[in-house]
Amino acid sequence: MSVILGIETSCDETAAAIFEQRLLGNCVFSQISLHEKYGGVVPEIASRSHLEKIGPIVRAALADAEKTIDDIDYIAVTNKPGLAGALLIGLSYAKGLAYAHNKKLIKVDHLEGHIFSSFLHDDGSVRSDIEFPHLSLVVSGGHTSIFLVKNFGEYETVGRTLDDAAGEAFDKVAKLLGLGYPGGPRIEKLARDVGFKDFCQYPRTKQLTKTLDFSFSGLKTAVLYDLVKRGSYDLKEGIIENNLTPELQKEVSSSLLVCITDILTKKMEKALKEFPEAKGITCAGGVACNGYLRDALATMCRKAGKWCVIPPRKYCADNAAMVAFVGKYKGEQQKFETLCLDVYE
Ligand code: KG4
Ligand code: ZN
Repeated sequence: MSVILGIETSCDETAAAIFEQRLLGNCVFSQISLHEKYGGVVPEIASRSHLEKIGPIVRAALADAEKTIDDIDYIAVTNKPGLAGALLIGLSYAKGLAYAHNKKLIKVDHLEGHIFSSFLHDDGSVRSDIEFPHLSLVVSGGHTSIFLVKNFGEYETVGRTLDDAAGEAFDKVAKLLGLGYPGGPRIEKLARDVGFKDFCQYPRTKQLTKTLDFSFSGLKTAVLYDLVKRGSYDLKEGIIENNLTPELQKEVSSSLLVCITDILTKKMEKALKEFPEAKGITCAGGVACNGYLRDALATMCRKAGKWCVIPPRKYCADNAAMVAFVGKYKGEQQKFETLCLDVYE
C-alpha cells in the first residue's frame, strides 16, 4: 500500500497531508491574519510565509501520521492554478524532497483537488457512495466552475465564471461594507442575524439564462451603487460613510448571500437537467463552508431526486488532504513527473 505526502501552497494556506488507505495526517497553516489588514492576499507576503512554514508543516503532518520521510512513496504537489510565487515554494520543496530521498513526484491540479475532496469523510476514510458521473461545483475565492466528473481524474468543465469568482464577490462586498477579509464567513454571520432575508433583491435574472457560465462582477457593482444611492459610500473618495449602520450591513450581507446562493443553486439545477446522466452533485472550495449554501444545494437535490455531497468544512477550504488523495489515485495510475516539473505545467 503506497503512502503519499501531499503539499499545497497555491494561495494563502501552507498545507501538508499524509494518505495511505485513508488520511493519516493533515496540517494547515492559514495566513489569514497576515493578509487581513490589506483586505486581501498579498502575493509577496504569501510566498515568504510559505517559505517559513513549509518545513514545519510537512514535519507536523508526518508526525501526525506517525510516519517518517522514509515511509513515503510518492510526493504529490499542487503546481497550478494559483499564485505563481506561492506555488513555486511548495513545488520547489516537493522537488527537493523527492530528489534528496529518491521519491516519485506527482503533480496535482488545485481544482482537481477540490473536485475530489468530496470523497473524504470527516475521519479521513474514503466515501464509497459517490457515483460517476456526477456534477461538481467548485466555488472559492479564485474559482467558480461546474465540472462533469466521469471517473477519478476524468472530468470536463461545463460551466465557469466569466469574470469574478463567487468568493471574490463576498470579499469585495465585505470590503465595501468595512467588514474585513475574508468576507464570506463575516457576511454569513451577519446574514444569519437577520434570518437570511432578501432585503435588497440584487439582480440575478440575467445569470439564469442559456449557459452554465457565471458572472459576479455586475453584482458587486450593483451593491456598490445601491450603497452610493443610500449615501453610505463615497464613490469619489472610496470611503464608507457614517450612515452605514450595523443594520444596513446585515441587510446587504443577507441579500448578497441569498442572491449568490440563488445563482449557484439554480445553475446546478440547470446543470442536472442538461446532464441527466449525472447521479448527483458535490460542492467544494472555500465558499462551500457556507451553511446557507450547503442547505440550499441539499434541498434542491432532494427535490430533483439526486444526491448531494458536500465535504466537511476542513476539506472545503484549501488543504493538502485533497492533494494527497488525488496523488493516491494518480500514483496508482502511474502518472509521475520528472524533477523538471514547473508551475503551471
Ligand atoms: O478555497 P479557498 O480557501 O481559497 C481559494 O482557493 O480561493 O476559498 C476562500 C474563499 C474566500 O473568498 C472566502 O471569502 C470564501 O472562500 N469563504 C466563504 C465562507 N468561508 C470562506 N464564503 C462564503 N461563506 C463562508 N462561510
Ligand atoms: Zn482553493
